[in-house]
Amino acid sequence: MDNQELHKIAETVLIRSNLLMDVLPAADGPIFARAEGSIIWDTEGKPYLDFNSGQMCSALGHNNPRVIAAVQAGLETLTHASSVFYNVPQIRLAESLADTLDPPLSRSMFIQSGADSNEAAVLFARRATGRAGIGAFHLSFHGYTDVTRAMSFCAQKPGHGPPIADLYAIPTPYAYRSPLASDDEDWWKPLLELAFDVLDRQCTDNLAAVIAEPLISAGGVIELPKGYLGALQAKLHERGALLILDEAQTGLGKLGTMYAYQQEDVVPDILTLSKHFGGGIAISAMITSDDIEARATAGGLNFGHSHSSDPIGCIAGLASLEEIRASGLAQRAVEIGANWRARMLALQQRYELIGDVRGRGLIQGIELVRDRRTKEPARDEANQIFGVCLQEGLLFSVRGQHGNVIRFVPPFSTTDAQIDQAADILERAIRQVS
Ligand SMILES: Cc1ncc(COP(=O)(O)O)c(C=O)c1O
Repeated sequence: MDNQELHKIAETVLIRSNLLMDVLPAADGPIFARAEGSIIWDTEGKPYLDFNSGQMCSALGHNNPRVIAAVQAGLETLTHASSVFYNVPQIRLAESLADTLDPPLSRSMFIQSGADSNEAAVLFARRATGRAGIGAFHLSFHGYTDVTRAMSFCAQKPGHGPPIADLYAIPTPYAYRSPLASDDEDWWKPLLELAFDVLDRQCTDNLAAVIAEPLISAGGVIELPKGYLGALQAKLHERGALLILDEAQTGLGKLGTMYAYQQEDVVPDILTLSKHFGGGIAISAMITSDDIEARATAGGLNFGHSHSSDPIGCIAGLASLEEIRASGLAQRAVEIGANWRARMLALQQRYELIGDVRGRGLIQGIELVRDRRTKEPARDEANQIFGVCLQEGLLFSVRGQHGNVIRFVPPFSTTDAQIDQAADILERAIRQVS
């Protein structure tokens, strides 16, 4: 059956919740059929360089052989088990994960999605502190369940119901579009002061935690200034509140270290992992310390889903941790990131459209502007470039508050030749649209 026929069926039987609906008519999109490494093919056999790593979940490369072999064996041993009891892969995964973490992070809970893990983090922070208030960046993204959607301020759209109580936005330290001059290395400090002035008044003595991405991905590939996370955690601890780091996108090697927090002088009180944790199979984790776990579970705590701690997800998680460590993937992320960034900086020299080049390791972005002085967002141009690249066989996503940041998340499996190929496709598209 060809693309057109499948599209016809899809449009009558699928719910259209496509994130791209405003950019791409559904009938124009590829329908994917198979993949390997950094390439995905559609039903017509056309290859695409996947610089989006699927939905950022195939960062190990599509169909990673180590994950496939482990899952195939696991499927014949124990596919599913009650989440009320422990199972062997779950214990092994928690043990192995603890080995990659810094004290006092030692205890894990396994669920399925990034949103689940952040729901768990919010619940644990509230139970451990006995408070309700949760702060998040005003350009944050943490998921699409009701609570996580309500604290995903960059994804707010009309028509999704009233916001949920006790969730507060704090200003994102976004150097390129800061209302404060951002030349000085401490430029962000007044912004952090302001965040707490506002939080202290909005939820006086009731702040449980702030949740943050160490590098804000969907909000527009925004790097936090050096020192910000440490200062944020100090302010939280002064108030008896906790720091939750959502490393859905930044964890497990992608930024050049096992966890992004290791590049700052902080260990979060609660850490969440998801995306490529299962090498393409759904599994996420919420991790915390003995102390917070004891405080949160005192008196009993009900949380979990039918598929929480499923052996098959845990087996995939174990295999993916092994792959990241045994194959030195964090180092590969540094090399890929440096290579891509150099290509983007060279393009910035040639095309006025590229206002800013940002990112680290496997999360890279370029912000497009019509005028480098006024920084007028080039949203239409970003969408056009997306369309041309899609035609040419290069996938990535367009994100940011103004829809003008092109985000690249190539898998660890990406070769230098594929980076050259992707950069050439991108340059042709920019030239065409400029
Ligand atoms: C930082 C971050 N947290 C959480 C999520 C939500 O993850 P999921 O879609 O698996 O619920 C995402 C998804 O893009 C994300 O980027």
